[in-house]
Amino acid sequence: MTRRPVLARTYAELNAASAELLGRAAASHHAGHTSLGLVPTMGALHEGHAALVRNAREANDVVVVSIFVNPLQFGEAADLERYPRNLEADLDLLAACGADIAFAPLADEVYPGGEPMVRISSGALGAKFEGASRPGHFDGALTVVAKLLHYGLPPVPADYRAYFGQKDAQQLALVRRMAADLDFPVEIVGVPTVRDADGLALSSRNRFLTPEQRTAALVLHRSLSYLKEQADRHEPLDVEGALAMIRSVLQVDLDYLEVVDPDSLEPLAFNCQDTPFTGEALALIAARVGDVRLIDNVRLG
Ligand code: PAJ
Repeated sequence: MTRRPVLARTYAELNAASAELLGRAAASHHAGHTSLGLVPTMGALHEGHAALVRNAREANDVVVVSIFVNPLQFGEAADLERYPRNLEADLDLLAACGADIAFAPLADEVYPGGEPMVRISSGALGAKFEGASRPGHFDGALTVVAKLLHYGLPPVPADYRAYFGQKDAQQLALVRRMAADLDFPVEIVGVPTVRDADGLALSSRNRFLTPEQRTAALVLHRSLSYLKEQADRHEPLDVEGALAMIRSVLQVDLDYLEVVDPDSLEPLAFNCQDTPFTGEALALIAARVGDVRLIDNVRLG
């Protein structure tokens, strides 16, 4: 039987718990060198989140998972309202993954004066793709990630790592840029996307799909896999063909499908051309299925 993580509701409780656990880890190591892994989440945890926690578990003495539905990164109030919340189930899943501490603060703890006036600006990288359809989203996400990275900072000398899913490729690229540009003392670790057996990337939004919509949504992964097969064979990428696949599924309303540089997310020159694919790229896709917006991506090369 696995034990539930310590539940910390405040920054002070988190600090006390991580200091104690790091101290214990240091005492049991010969070298006394310890590490802490932080996994930021908004709860409603599924196997995608679990993969992040297991990665953190393998590499660190102490694993902290934050659970906080961040109002700053939601556009419409209705979206924030309907975001699923289930702390009890989350704690059970975290117990099964071996997390040590669940940090689940209330909004007053994170934003004591209401919404902060000063925020992280996600720049041009945050304005495109997901940022284009959700203005302010990435500024809000990076602002809370910055705060969570501060909260999670080991209170005693220790290595510090934070884990993010490749599923949210733009968010991962932005967090890496923020940590590099603003000298955050943390190693950012990207974790591969976890999918259902049929290929659909796990997401807390999948629960809003009807069975028919779910079947339709599989074309996202199918079109990305089509491009990946060409990339693996060093053939030209048939982006037009991938677009045609998506257009043939009527319930799927495509927002974008684009092949980009994995770090800058700048469109790559060979996109839609007859040049054989070499190099490294990401194929990004976003679409609406009913009123559910889905994103996915694959690494090419
Ligand atoms: P949330 O959507 O809860 O996701 C938390 C982390 O889980 C993110 O790093 C996300 O990329 C990762 N994740 C989600 N689905 C995944 C999947 N199928 N495979 C692998 N990883 C997956 O992303 C956020 O929360 C928030 O923006 C946050 C970073 C917590 C800031 O509020």
